[in-house]
Amino acid sequence: MDRYAVIGNPIAQSKSPFIHTLFARQTQQDMVYDAKLGEPGEFDDLVSRLRGEGYKGFNITAPFKEDAFAFATGLSKRAKLAGAVNTLNFTDDGLVFGDTTDGAGLLQDLKDQHVELRDQRILLLGAGGAARGVLQSLLQAQPKSLLIANRSVDKAEHLAQLFSEFKGDCELSFTPLDELSQSFDLVINSTSAGLHGELPQIPAAIFGSTTVSYDMSYSAELTGFNRWAQSHGAAKLVDGLGMLVNQAAESFSIWRGIRPGTRSVYRELRRNMS
Ligand code: ATR
Repeated sequence: MDRYAVIGNPIAQSKSPFIHTLFARQTQQDMVYDAKLGEPGEFDDLVSRLRGEGYKGFNITAPFKEDAFAFATGLSKRAKLAGAVNTLNFTDDGLVFGDTTDGAGLLQDLKDQHVELRDQRILLLGAGGAARGVLQSLLQAQPKSLLIANRSVDKAEHLAQLFSEFKGDCELSFTPLDELSQSFDLVINSTSAGLHGELPQIPAAIFGSTTVSYDMSYSAELTGFNRWAQSHGAAKLVDGLGMLVNQAAESFSIWRGIRPGTRSVYRELRRNMS
């Protein structure tokens, strides 16, 4: 039986074992998937040991996505751009292939939620690893404009430069959070503010009566960010649970060559959270 795992710290909260176990059952794959706690500075040792025990691949979550990037002996183009890896796959010819499926997961979820991107005005809040991981995918969808807003504006500027080759006709720009003034069609929150029980300090004017608010984090109830968006008139609220399931489906298909259906797994996960 083939073995896979998610590695992170902390890891007990991870939904990946639940998701991949349902995927494996649905697609009748003979595999098991568990969770492993990594210790800072010991990522390479852990992965090498588990590989020696017969593991075929891993999902990588915080804080090891950059370690996984360095560990991989081959990288997808999208992983190179993201500077991070959330999927490691040990191939039969001995390669350690690193990929990132977060951007594809976000794009698929937006499609599933009927959120249009083409010709839309998008605001991306945050310029950390989570933002960098989805920028290429967002630009591929050909929005009218994409504004990256971050507390530390230099990081937003850096990302705008890094991804400028993918912008096509999209107006790609950056701004500090406190200079935001107009409303957007889609606001994506990629900041980690919610993890600390905070909200990014931004004017509520970013929400108009047709704005979709997409929070990349998720919770059983409305996330703090989406509650705030709702109270300021956002038309539609989406959290990152669908992105989580879709990025997992992408990873699964890298390992197993078959893409599982995500809707029933999403529903099951949502039901279990409430
Ligand atoms: P991740 O991998 O989750 O993106 P990260 O790389 O540490 O984590 O990035 C965190 C992002 O959340 C950054 O954009 C950060 O803003 P700064 O670059 O200015 O630090 C943003 N962030 C975290 N807490 C925030 C807060 N309270 N208000 C606004 N932005 C916040």
